[in-house]
Amino acid sequence: MNFTTDIFETFDKQWALLTAGDMEKFNTMTVSWGGLGTIWGKPVATVYVRTSRLTHDFMDDGEFFTVSFFPEEYKKTLGVLGSKSGRDMDKMHESGLTAKAIGETVTFEEATVTFVCRKLFKQQLDPANMRPEIAEQFYGKDAPHDMYIGEVVEIVK
Ligand SMILES: Cc1cc2nc3c(=O)[nH]c(=O)nc-3n(C[C@H](O)[C@H](O)[C@H](O)COP(=O)(O)O)c2cc1C
Repeated sequence: MNFTTDIFETFDKQWALLTAGDMEKFNTMTVSWGGLGTIWGKPVATVYVRTSRLTHDFMDDGEFFTVSFFPEEYKKTLGVLGSKSGRDMDKMHESGLTAKAIGETVTFEEATVTFVCRKLFKQQLDPANMRPEIAEQFYGKDAPHDMYIGEVVEIVK
């Protein structure tokens, strides 16, 4: 596996799609919080998903998820997938993206790179352990984030 990037730029500015489920039933949403690194001697991707997202249900149900990055021309599409829930729109038909199976889960033909991840760990971020201004800004009204750490089992370009 080989991948080189400016990771801060990649998540924060470029955004990604987080997808969980299988070809029969999956959901995807835009993420800009995340990381790539190492824990327990494994290469991992970490994502943060509010418990209110439909994708959260799929993250809990499945063993695998993908994090996919796209060319700049798909920014608008990622904007839509990050503002509407799969509960309220048929994301796949309206997004114009082409889903494809990758291992036991799903990515998209249009992605430039996909990280295939096996879920290792999940834990809710507890506002009681945060700096008060962060707890207030991000969790005053909104649902908490669950942090998921997944082993990167494959990087597909
Ligand atoms: C640029 C951008 C980044 C986002 N990053 C995250 C994120 O890291 N975690 C999260 O829970 N929601 C994030 N969201 C919000 C979800 O993508 C959004 O609520 C989405 O509609 C959830 O879809 P779902 O209910 O079908 O899962 C982001 C939205 C945008 C536009």
